[in-house]
Amino acid sequence: MTLLDGKKTSEAIQDEIAAEVAAIKAKGGKVPHLAAILVGNDGGSVTYVNNKVLACDRIGFGSSLIRYEDSVSEEELLNKIKELNEDPEVDGFIVQLPLPKHIDANKVLEAIDPKKDVDGFHPTNVGRMVAGLPAYLPATPAGILQLLKRYNIETKGKHCVVIGRSNIVGTPMSILMSKCTYPGEATVTICHRNTVDLAHHTRQADILIVAVGRPGLVTADMVKEGAVVIDVGTTRVPDETRKSGFRLRGDVDFDNVAEKCSYITPVPGGVGPLTIAMLMTNTLRAAKHEVYG
Ligand code: GUN
Repeated sequence: MTLLDGKKTSEAIQDEIAAEVAAIKAKGGKVPHLAAILVGNDGGSVTYVNNKVLACDRIGFGSSLIRYEDSVSEEELLNKIKELNEDPEVDGFIVQLPLPKHIDANKVLEAIDPKKDVDGFHPTNVGRMVAGLPAYLPATPAGILQLLKRYNIETKGKHCVVIGRSNIVGTPMSILMSKCTYPGEATVTICHRNTVDLAHHTRQADILIVAVGRPGLVTADMVKEGAVVIDVGTTRVPDETRKSGFRLRGDVDFDNVAEKCSYITPVPGGVGPLTIAMLMTNTLRAAKHEVYG
């Protein structure tokens, strides 16, 4: 069994980006700039956004963090998005999800200029991805593709089972794995909360990707010998032995499942760190006008 080391892979990608930024700076080019909008004080969201800003600092990007209280109006948020759309200094920006209930997240995402939508959540980027056109790919699926690629994992003709159908992970992941480029060319099954006999499907998986946020959902009896298992779950569970009072748990019962796998991602240190690297990749592509010309 080989551990898919997301931390190491993420660092390698960020080193590559940092080298490119240094070259851009040396030539007097524009330094890539990422802006992030964060609404409220949700612990997970605050940590994620802070890590995104820290990554910008580390690799030499400019960054702006724009924070609002939970009570911010939809109109105020839409005004800020319009301002960022028009700001030539900002190459790309994200609105951290989830948003408070009184704000229509779809309306907010649709207000972002697709050219600056480095999260790849705007319907234009989703459509372009489905059509196989140049697009910003959402960070988590793009990170998983990078892991498969950098560990030279064969995907062609394999059966890939994806559990979860979210817009952020499950749905784009299933589409990307079916595409006729590497990593892809797989036969894909999508499972979700209404799937009858989940284990029947997961046992057929050569590659099993789990993204539902239910700790320990996938147990050893549900996994085929030699499978590649990618765990996207990062649920905070109480842990009194930690200073923070919690630890992260994946959707896979790692200790028992790992023995059966050819490759598996740990939690933490698997898929999570890749998402930052892929957001930085998208921001660099935005600054270089690589996707939309
Ligand atoms: N919430 C969970 N994942 C993400 C992400 O990749 N981007 C944003 N903006 N919000 C998220």
